[in-house]
Amino acid sequence: MKRVLLIVGGGIAAYKALELVRLLKKAGHQVTPVLTKGGEHFVTAMSLGTLAESQVHTSLWELKDEVEIGHIQLSRAADVLLVCPATADLLAKMAGGIADDLATTLLLATDKPVVVAPAMNVRMWQHAATQRNVAQLKADGVRVIEPAEGEMACGEYGAGRLPEPQDIMDSLRDLLK
Ligand SMILES: Cc1cc2nc3c(=O)[nH]c(=O)nc-3n(C[C@H](O)[C@H](O)[C@H](O)COP(=O)(O)O)c2cc1C
Repeated sequence: MKRVLLIVGGGIAAYKALELVRLLKKAGHQVTPVLTKGGEHFVTAMSLGTLAESQVHTSLWELKDEVEIGHIQLSRAADVLLVCPATADLLAKMAGGIADDLATTLLLATDKPVVVAPAMNVRMWQHAATQRNVAQLKADGVRVIEPAEGEMACGEYGAGRLPEPQDIMDSLRDLLK
């Protein structure tokens, strides 16, 4: 059993994070979801929390959470941090060491393995800034699950799709052993 801190970013592929939670739980892992402000536009804390059987953390500024758990403890208590979907915005913040919300603060405050599953429009993915950020993250030791190629929610075709949840599980196999 591994303790997975799952950060869900604000991309259309966030719905696939729900299925991923189901697969992680079925495999016997503990999942603690963190939903970004962007992520809250795409999936609800109710869905995530019910599937994860866990409280969902959304803000750095929740006094009750801070007193009872503490944001540093949240990342300390995890065996692995997984960002899924990782938006272009989250990748940029991570590459720059920005910590201006709960998710990015936890990502900066950890020494545990960090895995990102980027998902975005093909132009966003191919943009020099995103590619530079991904290269920086790889150099920093972050594991990147490469996006798949195919038809996108926006109607375009190319690289940037979030791989299917089962494929993400397969990519995590060694970390979840
Ligand atoms: C309908 C819609 C779909 C979006 N899909 C994506 C996406 O798949 N990937 C991405 O990087 N940004 C996407 N965005 C833009 C992000 O939501 C935006 O950059 C946001 O600030 C990211 O928030 P986060 O840092 O909490 O993830 C989308 C925006 C909208 C309105």
